[in-house]
Amino acid sequence: MVYALDRPDLWYKDAVFYEVSVRAFADSNDDGIGDLAGLTSKLGYLARLGIDAIWMLPIFPSPLRDDGYDVADYRSIHPDYGTLDDFRRLVAEAHKRGLRVVVELIPNHTSDQHPWFQASRDPSHPEHERYRDWYVWSDTDDAYSDTRIIFLDSEPSNWTFDELRGQYFWHRFFHHQPDLNFDNPEVQQEMLRIVQFWIDEGADALRIDAPPYLFEREGTNCENLPETHAYLKRLRAFVDAYAPGTMLLSEANQWPEDVRDYFGDGDEMHMNFHFPLMPRIFMALAKQSRAPIEEIMDRTPPLPDICQWGTFLRCHDELTLEMVTPEERAFMWDFYAPEPRMRLNLGIRRRLAPLLENDQARIRCANSILLTFIGSPFLYYGDETGMGDNIWLDDRNGVRTPMQWNAEPNAGFTGRDVPPERLYEPVIESETFGYTKVNVEAQAADPESLLNWTRDILALRKQHPVFGRGDLTLLNPENPAVLAYVRTYADETVLVVNNLAPTAQEVTLDLSAYAGRNRSAGRTLTDLLTGATLEAPASDAWTLSLERYGFRWLSFSG
Ligand code: NOJ
Ligand code: CA
Repeated sequence: MVYALDRPDLWYKDAVFYEVSVRAFADSNDDGIGDLAGLTSKLGYLARLGIDAIWMLPIFPSPLRDDGYDVADYRSIHPDYGTLDDFRRLVAEAHKRGLRVVVELIPNHTSDQHPWFQASRDPSHPEHERYRDWYVWSDTDDAYSDTRIIFLDSEPSNWTFDELRGQYFWHRFFHHQPDLNFDNPEVQQEMLRIVQFWIDEGADALRIDAPPYLFEREGTNCENLPETHAYLKRLRAFVDAYAPGTMLLSEANQWPEDVRDYFGDGDEMHMNFHFPLMPRIFMALAKQSRAPIEEIMDRTPPLPDICQWGTFLRCHDELTLEMVTPEERAFMWDFYAPEPRMRLNLGIRRRLAPLLENDQARIRCANSILLTFIGSPFLYYGDETGMGDNIWLDDRNGVRTPMQWNAEPNAGFTGRDVPPERLYEPVIESETFGYTKVNVEAQAADPESLLNWTRDILALRKQHPVFGRGDLTLLNPENPAVLAYVRTYADETVLVVNNLAPTAQEVTLDLSAYAGRNRSAGRTLTDLLTGATLEAPASDAWTLSLERYGFRWLSFSG
């Protein structure tokens, strides 16, 4: 269905999202830790970049053993990051600039430091009775044995013994992150109240962390259970009634056919990340073949009208290889993570630019695919400048280093006189990616920079709702190194052609079905990237040349 563009509740269909770590972005008070006031001071930068919404990594009080995904209080702000007043100011300033704000909801688990868990584990705690069943407890560690372990590199089991309670508790992630018991109606209700709280504070959308694991049932793999979907539908109904237009985005790292269920009939999540597509973009570039993308698109079901995929190249986690076959994983590890230290769990802890060998043409090609393929794209902070990583930092911290704003000491992330050892993590200093080379200020001044290219291409994308909303038809040219597709929406038809190879390629396309579709525009093509008008593809064999990693966005409708 073609929805009117003026339906504001569908804003997420046209949006480009920017994922930001508050801790890593900008430090306003020189304590070496990024904060909400720092992020607020950079909203002008983000608006100029051309994004539409910011998604912040967790900002709640937390022992930070999982960078805030270990929540110790759902209704407050980590003191390192500021206060609720700072949050409200951030939202107000974002809204002034037309930017929306996505807040994390982490329903599956808390930190073991959360007062609920402290009460639940301790029979002598005054609130023990009340919280006794808020977590998943067992006398043995052999229940739900068909369930996989996600953090394979650090966790031997999904059960950990608690001395005080004398029982095991269930955790799908770290052993310091106990899963909440969603069979308990009070837990279900409390999570809705937390959602209400953040909507009241100004959230425009919520990113639901780890939704597949809310419920456990013996004899299953404890993922994607009907009970989980029933609860997510209840959450959606609650949000629709309380604050219509609030968008729910889910992080179900599953195969497309399983993720499809998280959209329901348009009555569950508005958006879901398309996890399996992401590694296949990298695989296609590595193999110089569009086949991996074709294969996953074959498995990608259509969505209810109001729903949307979220797409991304990189994020704050390792580049996950959970949704690939073992052979594909081996290929990806060999190609993109030749050093053992680059690997983590079932993934790769590297950033976009290093993964693509800092090859500017390849980075732009990957972004061309991201920005023109199905769904709404998510950019990861720093990738707009081609920031590097530090694989020697713990866990996934190597892709969460301070944003590089300028060439001054501490990269402009915090005061230049702050001793470097005070920073929550060191800035990148490597020869290629160090902050004196890669930073916002230098790139803003360079017309050829990745930053300026990203600004231009986001501005262009914004003029063409077809990219967020259109149907996508993959073309099947003989040359496997060319990924070509046609996007159509209302009266606009755009052909996108990407060369996945490091050498120039020719491709012959049959466009007879599209040429002349839009009669008023005649049979010409407009190159959206240059503004040039091209000779019409009169025959069914139209030949196009592409530079190495070159791409064209060609509009039939002028
Ligand atoms: C998914 C988040 O993206 C990741 O960073 C976190 O460690 C796990 N969920 C557990 O919350
Ligand atoms: Ca600070």
